[in-house]
Amino acid sequence: MKTSSFFDSPKRWSKRKHRLLGKYLPPFSAKLGSKAPLIYCVDGFAGKAKYDNNQPGSPLLIAQIANKCAAWKKPVTLKLINVEADPENYKSLCYITQSWESSGIVTNLLGKFGEAVPKIISHIGNAPALFFLDPFGPTSVKFADLRPILERNQQATELIINFDVDGLRRIVDSINSRDNNLQASKRNKTNIANVTEIIGSNKWKVEVESGSVATHEREKLLLHEYITNLSSYGYNVASYAVRKDVGKTPKYYLIFCTRHADGIKLMNSFIREEEDELIRDSAGNPAQFLLPSEEFDVVQQETQRRRVELRQLILKYLQENTQTTRGQIRHHFVFERFGEFHDKDYNFTLKELIQDVRLQTGHGRKSINDTVPLTFIP
Ligand SMILES: C[S@@+](CC[C@H](N)C(=O)[O-])C[C@H]1O[C@@H](n2cnc3c(N)ncnc32)[C@H](O)[C@@H]1O
Repeated sequence: MKTSSFFDSPKRWSKRKHRLLGKYLPPFSAKLGSKAPLIYCVDGFAGKAKYDNNQPGSPLLIAQIANKCAAWKKPVTLKLINVEADPENYKSLCYITQSWESSGIVTNLLGKFGEAVPKIISHIGNAPALFFLDPFGPTSVKFADLRPILERNQQATELIINFDVDGLRRIVDSINSRDNNLQASKRNKTNIANVTEIIGSNKWKVEVESGSVATHEREKLLLHEYITNLSSYGYNVASYAVRKDVGKTPKYYLIFCTRHADGIKLMNSFIREEEDELIRDSAGNPAQFLLPSEEFDVVQQETQRRRVELRQLILKYLQENTQTTRGQIRHHFVFERFGEFHDKDYNFTLKELIQDVRLQTGHGRKSINDTVPLTFIP
């Protein structure tokens, strides 16, 4: 998509990204705001704050959430720092957020995110912070820009990064081109340096340069190396493929980094809810069929299907982990299958296994929480 038309109206997948941010930020703020006097959200690629069709952009959505946080019974002060490099977009950003800016809730910075990071880090001090990084394409977030964020002592530091692995793979593919004149070799060197700067390491080169790896495998390799590098700073990292429709190739990945298991658990369920919406949208209107709509409730059918699958996965896991808990089981699968099974799916499936006497609870009762010991009965 042309970047010039990006702000005409939000695409369906952009709305999904906004909904995920909008669902995640309030519980993040509630949890951390109960302990810290002030928390931050940093929108590193803020945009115009409003689309041309009047729909809110991420800075406006976040500012509205800050209002809600301030109105809670136990108020939480959520402040927002926006960075925008394009002067025209910045003008719109300042105009739309002016009332928050004058009350000190919003700070708008004109410039490149990477260059603004040191200033932001020193400004927010040790406050809990969520960084939302939503650039155009793959080249604007260098791994070196992320290091000062990843290295913060504050445990409550989280990131949501829009990672355009398809765009990155295209750069990698251009490196593989057979042109070997001086100009091409110079271009190749620059591209190799750029991809390495974005990913944060150059292991990708060996496998990808061999040229024998299929397109989606090359993307998987790049994504995996990026996630490994982010994880090495002590983060739980999970990725969600944002697609236009069910079965379509990803537009980009949302990479979620947190040091708390609760964060992953929350985001996992929010993603599952969005995926169910996607299934519902793709299925169209059930009213077109003459049978009762339940028969065509695709989400219900999908829920049943995935619960059968989850039961099989858990039973396999239990063969090797005979003593466990619900929390441990979910923690295991949530990374492997991020966004695939809702919290309700885990609860339902484990309840069923207890009822079927495949699991025995430590306290002998049927109802459990995440920490009750569970013993597998083969
Ligand atoms: C995908 S848009 C952001 C959309 C916005 N997050 C939303 O959801 O409403 C990316 C924005 O980043 C800006 N931008 C591009 N390069 C940048 C950089 N290096 N630092 C900060 N902003 C940048 C672009 O001008 C554009 O407005």
